[in-house]
Amino acid sequence: MTHPHFWWQTGVIYQIYPRSFLDSNGDGVGDLAGITSKLDYVRWLGVDAIWLSPIYPSPMADFGYDITNYTDVHPLFGTLEDLDTLLQQAHQHDLKVILDFVPNHTSDEHPWFQQSRSSRTNEKRDWYLWRDPASDGGPPNNWMSRFGGSAWQFDEPTGQYYLHMYDVKQPDLNWRNPRVRQEMYNVMRFWLERGVDGFRIDALEVLLKDEQFRDNPMNPEWKPGDPPNTRLIEHYIVDQPGMHGIMQQMRTLAENYGQRVLIGELYLPVERLMPYYGEQLDEIHLPFNFQFVNLPTWEVRTIRQAVDGYEAALPKGAWPNWVLGNHDRSRIATRVGREQARLTQMLLLTLRGTPTCYYGEELGMQDLALPREVMQDPLAKKHPEYSRDPVRSPMQWDGSANAGFSPAGVKPWLPVANDYQTFNVAAEQQDPRSFLMLTRALLAIRRSHDALTLGSYQSVEQESATCFVYQRQHHDQRHLVLLNFSAQDQVVTLAGQGQGHIVLSTYMDRGGSLDLSAVHLRGNEGLLIDAGVPSS
Ligand code: GLC
Repeated sequence: MTHPHFWWQTGVIYQIYPRSFLDSNGDGVGDLAGITSKLDYVRWLGVDAIWLSPIYPSPMADFGYDITNYTDVHPLFGTLEDLDTLLQQAHQHDLKVILDFVPNHTSDEHPWFQQSRSSRTNEKRDWYLWRDPASDGGPPNNWMSRFGGSAWQFDEPTGQYYLHMYDVKQPDLNWRNPRVRQEMYNVMRFWLERGVDGFRIDALEVLLKDEQFRDNPMNPEWKPGDPPNTRLIEHYIVDQPGMHGIMQQMRTLAENYGQRVLIGELYLPVERLMPYYGEQLDEIHLPFNFQFVNLPTWEVRTIRQAVDGYEAALPKGAWPNWVLGNHDRSRIATRVGREQARLTQMLLLTLRGTPTCYYGEELGMQDLALPREVMQDPLAKKHPEYSRDPVRSPMQWDGSANAGFSPAGVKPWLPVANDYQTFNVAAEQQDPRSFLMLTRALLAIRRSHDALTLGSYQSVEQESATCFVYQRQHHDQRHLVLLNFSAQDQVVTLAGQGQGHIVLSTYMDRGGSLDLSAVHLRGNEGLLIDAGVPSS
């Protein structure tokens, strides 16, 4: 393809949770050398970039999202040299590498925090958010941690509270302090100079907090059973004024190194997400679009509204993106079942914009049922029902012991799913109609058709309430995507459109041409159709 588009626009991102991808040294935890050894697989699959969840030194209170040194590699994962090797080999495989950047908080064991907590007059005191107790001695305000309980922790030696939006071992940095910004920008430079192709920026929506630390309002819609921290609306924490200047600085910094990408973790409604592209498209390249992981109901009407609403809200020139799952959210094959997950894979890989695929979802991996005793996630300590361990189980490579993730006889850090003998890379590679081969076919078709990468998007009105139909078009290439989200057969009518040619069915058992005036779809079937030049 020759066109003025960037790799992060036409490409597909594959998220790797390093602890769970491949354990090359038999300690039960995945590592960088393991990832490097599987680059052939990643390339074979047909994605374009890998995003690695954090690989930095960390006491692992939040599995690496609690960092003690931003410019090194945790020995569990390997060394800086291993990372250089991974980068070099990935680039040889024509794969980009995106690292996780965690600017909102450090570990409480980070030397900066150690200094900061040592005295009220320490030069790094103001690098974190310290406040006096309220008049009754309690926390300074009502803010709640996203991992449960107050967001404030009293620190005896200096008699003040520090803020932690997540675990108590993850104190929040003070991004209003220019020295903190400079230091964190240096971290970005360190990795960009080493050759990384971009960052996924963690917890971006909470980077700045209200300068007056005002109490958050109660959430009138909260009901028992909802996550405890949603009892309050995070009005004075999320998406605060001042963010855009920081985003612009990050963008300029990244682009000093050429075609690099910034992806923002922003759990925001669409209208509040769009400003993160920047008025001049000079901020975040891809503010994560989490609608599919957040939809209140999974039905055609809401799905279509989400897509159409997002498309309509995008500023001119802003590039869309789609996410079905990640290391924090239930796997799609659990949420919608394996049958329908095939359909959602077609949805993800044929919509307009950059898709992010979470490791294992190409196999149809599901959430792991885990007894409380073996849960490791800090969130599970207080709220086992919100544990994220089930979505972080070891990658299923083959039918051997430990699914080929760890050598036989080693106990992986989380158990391997029971169904790994059926759902694994080796077995699915042998079955031409497996989930894996469907994903691979979709990726290959996407890559070879400009209509699917660069083409416009338009949804097509349907009488059937369970079918989502849309068109992707680029010049004289036109594809139709027909998705039947019900278990029953359906007929899609595309009057006056003549004949089309089946490129792919999610069942992978049909081809040839068909009459578009009445297209029969089986239950949970998706069809990708080459519809040729528009008739009008
Ligand atoms: C993000 C990460 C999540 C982590 C949290 C705190 O939401 O995706 O895994 O626990 O930030 O860093």
